[in-house]
Amino acid sequence: MKVSIIGGGGLVGSCAGFALQCGGIAKEIALLDVNQELAVGHALDLQHGGPSIADQVIRGGGYEHIADSDVICITAGLRRKPDESRLDLINRNTDLFVKILQDVATAGPKSTAIVLVVSNPVDILTYVAAKKLGLPCNQVIGLGTQLDTIRFCSLIAEQLGAPPTQTKALILGEHGDSMVPIWSSAAIAGLPLDKYPGWNPSLANQLFTRTRGSGAEVIKRKGGAGFAVGIAIRDVFEAIALDRRCVLPVSSVQSGCYGIRDVALSVPTVVGRAGVLDRMEIELWPREMQGMRASGAALRKTLDVVLQRIGS
Ligand code: 2OP
Repeated sequence: MKVSIIGGGGLVGSCAGFALQCGGIAKEIALLDVNQELAVGHALDLQHGGPSIADQVIRGGGYEHIADSDVICITAGLRRKPDESRLDLINRNTDLFVKILQDVATAGPKSTAIVLVVSNPVDILTYVAAKKLGLPCNQVIGLGTQLDTIRFCSLIAEQLGAPPTQTKALILGEHGDSMVPIWSSAAIAGLPLDKYPGWNPSLANQLFTRTRGSGAEVIKRKGGAGFAVGIAIRDVFEAIALDRRCVLPVSSVQSGCYGIRDVALSVPTVVGRAGVLDRMEIELWPREMQGMRASGAALRKTLDVVLQRIGS
């Protein structure tokens, strides 16, 4: 399976390239960037490590790679400033993103290509991509709260000294300020979180607050996130490439899950080779349901403003 990473010269795109290389599943990885020299440099650096990982083709280049790509990952965009919300970023990134979509469409993607949107604000741009690209909506996926979910799990695991790989706690809704922690189904090694040694409900707020602020915290400390975003991208890519049909908290245009329609946000989503295969409306506590509705409303409000600017 071939994946093209638009913005492959940047921090997120190059980390995604490295994560996909280390996963060994992608047969070909193309890094595309407006700064082609940088993309080619990253690709060469990755290629050098290839003999110790997998038999893959890794190249830098331009939109010539789109036509035979199975997955097109869009990471290009300006990064937030530490005090800037993802939605504030929308005006600066929308115009750039629409141009990228035009270039992708012109390059003639496969009718079966899956577009994975990472650029922020990812839920807004996932909706725009689904409407502008002319691909079926199930073939346009936003990274959504998959990144927030693994951050959430990592912080809970750290707090309790638990194995991160056995710590399961979802974040749903917007990949942004209105994201929703799903405590009702949180568990560690199959044990409900509130039964796990060392758990105390007073930990909940601080753990979620830090999760929600993790993007800004990493930006403040090192200028921007890359490694965990790359891993989250790999999680989604491998669900597609292996037709895993696993359930991931990723963003797509909703058509009624949790009563939410015509906006893109993250719900438990069955992901396979054809992209979004199904959505699982897992039972939520009333306050979690309210959070999901509020997230949908916040995104819809911004979407209306954006669509006025770029046309629907
Ligand atoms: C983050 O949360 C880049 O939105 C991404 O770090």
